Amino acid sequence: MKQLIPSEIEAYAEAHSMRESAICRALRDETQRTMEYPQMLVGPLEGAFLKMMTQLVDAKRVLEIGMFTGYSALCFAEALPPDGTVITCEINETSASVARRYIAQAPFGSKISIRMGPALDTMRALAGPFDLIFIDADKPNYLNYYRRALDLLAPNGVILIDNVLWSGEVLKQPPPDESTSAIQELNRTVSLDPRVTTVLVTIRDGVLVVRRSQN
Ligand SMILES: C[S@@+](CC[C@H](N)C(=O)[O-])C[C@H]1O[C@@H](n2cnc3c(N)ncnc32)[C@H](O)[C@@H]1O
Repeated sequence: MKQLIPSEIEAYAEAHSMRESAICRALRDETQRTMEYPQMLVGPLEGAFLKMMTQLVDAKRVLEIGMFTGYSALCFAEALPPDGTVITCEINETSASVARRYIAQAPFGSKISIRMGPALDTMRALAGPFDLIFIDADKPNYLNYYRRALDLLAPNGVILIDNVLWSGEVLKQPPPDESTSAIQELNRTVSLDPRVTTVLVTIRDGVLVVRRSQN
């Protein structure tokens, strides 16, 4: 992933945002040491943003599409009230085994429930409403995840979609690959969807914030 924000600006923003928990710090270190694509986890600044959004919408139920080693799931769990829950979807057993170890140790880990298997199948089987839905898995399915997420979203809920700038590749025409094309289509579709209002936030690799139109 290309860093779109200069690293000293990123570090400054991180230093002036809410802190990463000790368990997230330890998980980030292990992920960096042992996993093939450690940059997939959202990291401290976007993690702080996810925690803030969880609190702003007063979320009780969070759904995450794409858990990896559990960093963002732990951010949500930390920000939720004691009776809050996170359902997180993952397909890869190696990543999930790391996540399970950290979730078991975290003081707020009991709020997290892992659903293994293709996320679209899991989403189809779930009942809403969810207050916050975070989409951060395979890009070719992003539009499918968005459509199902809207069915599952609470009236005042929020959908957050990660990597919507895709290292800046979204500017390229024609799109160089399937993932870029899928993200371009998602951004176009969501920005034109009259059912929702959106803002594309240029944090890290881009986060699309989506809520229902309020009229
Ligand atoms: C970018 S990572 C998620 C990072 C995580 N949200 C974090 O910040 O810690 C995307 C994850 O989605 C998983 N994934 C990919 N395709 C999937 C699918 N069809 N169903 C469920 N999970 C999938 C991958 O195995 C990977 O672990």
